[in-house]
Amino acid sequence: MDRAKVTLPLLQEKMRQGQPITMLTCYDYPTALLEEKAGIDIILVGDSLGMTVLGYSSTLPVTMDAMVLHAQAVRRGAPGAFLIGDMPYMSYQVDVREAIRNAGRFMAEAGCDAVKLEGGRNVADVVAALTRATIPVMGHLGLTPQSLAQLGGFVAQGRSAETALRVIDDARILEEAGACAILLEAVPPEVAQVVTRRSGVPIIGIGSGPHCHGQLLIVHDLLGFFEAFTPKFVKKYADLNAVILEAFRRYRADVEQGAFPQPEHCYSMRAGEGEKLRRLLEEKGLA
Ligand code: KIV
Repeated sequence: MDRAKVTLPLLQEKMRQGQPITMLTCYDYPTALLEEKAGIDIILVGDSLGMTVLGYSSTLPVTMDAMVLHAQAVRRGAPGAFLIGDMPYMSYQVDVREAIRNAGRFMAEAGCDAVKLEGGRNVADVVAALTRATIPVMGHLGLTPQSLAQLGGFVAQGRSAETALRVIDDARILEEAGACAILLEAVPPEVAQVVTRRSGVPIIGIGSGPHCHGQLLIVHDLLGFFEAFTPKFVKKYADLNAVILEAFRRYRADVEQGAFPQPEHCYSMRAGEGEKLRRLLEEKGLA
């Protein structure tokens, strides 16, 4: 490990010092290696992998087993990051005991540092129970993709005074329940600013403006590696789709035209073995 392990006290210190906290999603080992090398503070193994990696149209079909498998791979690639496992749909909503058992899997089987779950006052009892069970919890307010049916789509939240107040209140309720951090997705910057100013725990924004203690992007959005749709708040730092498509097309053309493989891509026989093989083939009538 090339850096000091990112811990909860370290994140709290960054917040107190006004140093922005960096956070990205990650779903696999090679990407984790690069995020670790880049010094990203927090890595979220998000259930967004259902859409970005598994090709579902929402996050709802993602299972606990799939999440643990991906979290294990990410932890192997990023031993120093603060790793958060995202509780998938129905892994914490049924009852608190099941929530503790599932959250515990992220900690024990994947080496996560915390879990994340969606919701405000409606999940305060779960947040409190997990915290009592020594499992740090990041809350998630605003646009909560697991509530897609209730929200009516991937739409920004807290845009009226009443709904903004509810988000602000929910943040307080989550913090009082023991949340160690809160993710704020797709709310106007002025709402995020109030939440951030009032909060004693790090507020990380995704699509919630510049006032939060830190920022999150979905890694496939940042890399230009997801085509289905691009939310307004995404800044693309690369166009991997174009790079990868071009590589696939060149490979196909090379194979079809006999330009690949070349001698430098081939293994040579050991000294004298080629001649020996030729004689053997002749003896056996196989030449
Ligand atoms: O699953 C995820 O990546 C998330 C983000 C959309 C915030 O929860």
